[in-house]
Amino acid sequence: MLQEKIVDFLKKNEDYVSGEEISERLKISRQALWKHIQELKESGYDIIAVPHLGYKLNSLPDRLFEYEVSRGLNTQIIGKKIYYFESIASTMEQAMELGLKGAPEGAIVLAELQTRGKGRLGRSWFSPKHKGIYLSLILRPKILPSQASVLTLLAAVSVCEAIKNATGLEIQIKWPNDILINNKKLGGILTELSAEMDRVSFLVIGIGLNVNNEKKSLISGATSIKEIRKENSSRVVLLQELLRKIEDNYLLFQKKGAHPIIEKWREHGITIGKRVKVYCQKEHIEGEAVDIDNDGGLLVRKDSGVTEKVMAGDVMHCR
Ligand code: BTN
Repeated sequence: MLQEKIVDFLKKNEDYVSGEEISERLKISRQALWKHIQELKESGYDIIAVPHLGYKLNSLPDRLFEYEVSRGLNTQIIGKKIYYFESIASTMEQAMELGLKGAPEGAIVLAELQTRGKGRLGRSWFSPKHKGIYLSLILRPKILPSQASVLTLLAAVSVCEAIKNATGLEIQIKWPNDILINNKKLGGILTELSAEMDRVSFLVIGIGLNVNNEKKSLISGATSIKEIRKENSSRVVLLQELLRKIEDNYLLFQKKGAHPIIEKWREHGITIGKRVKVYCQKEHIEGEAVDIDNDGGLLVRKDSGVTEKVMAGDVMHCR
């Protein structure tokens, strides 16, 4: 893509580069170059143009453009194919459609804004423009539908590791996959399956993270990386790190199974050992959360002494 080449060229040169030099190198006319530069500026690239000196790239926009995310990503599967949208109803629906059409394993759908972002249990996910990361990932693991929950835990672990690497922040997970910091919700994960009885055809893992949201725009109980760090973070850097971590953990899962993923989850999980109320559909179970099983289910020991396994639901920590 020409715009990508222009950006690359300007990135390599800290000083002004003449229009003549760029046109010659990229084999395009001066008029075409000018037109592309205008388009790049409209996309948020701060390019200074000075007569007789040429062009200089002053700063990059924090946009999740395919070529910004791909550059230097260095993954083998995850994010090798990127579908980027300025605005979309929900990346989940789009990824489901793409999955049914045969999109490759590791393909991701990214959006700058979601108009109907979906949360767990029929809730909505607030997805304001250019503030967060809204991502859906297509995976085609050879597993039974009953093993799919582990991949949700894998995503939650990867989010914690990526945020730690990119920002230094320590993140917690509330079972099954609420991403928390200081007991406030920073992100969430939603997994949808396309499966037969004995085989997962593909699954879509949706990840939503509040990154540069201002404190005043957050709903009650939510937080953002900006609220904690008091400055904007690069969504591109964070997203790249997340894709790398998902890949590392996915390869680990394929090689060694669920066990090492569950072990990592326990390091970040804050639900185990707590007294909990788990709301599943119309009923709720109360007791002590004693552990999670190898398939990702939460083991709750009720006051009667009986231990029950819960596979989905909403957890309230009582103390
Ligand atoms: C939760 O309720 O905790 C899960 C939230 C998941 C939100 C993400 S944002 C990207 C993807 N697209 C959606 O519509 N939802 C998920």
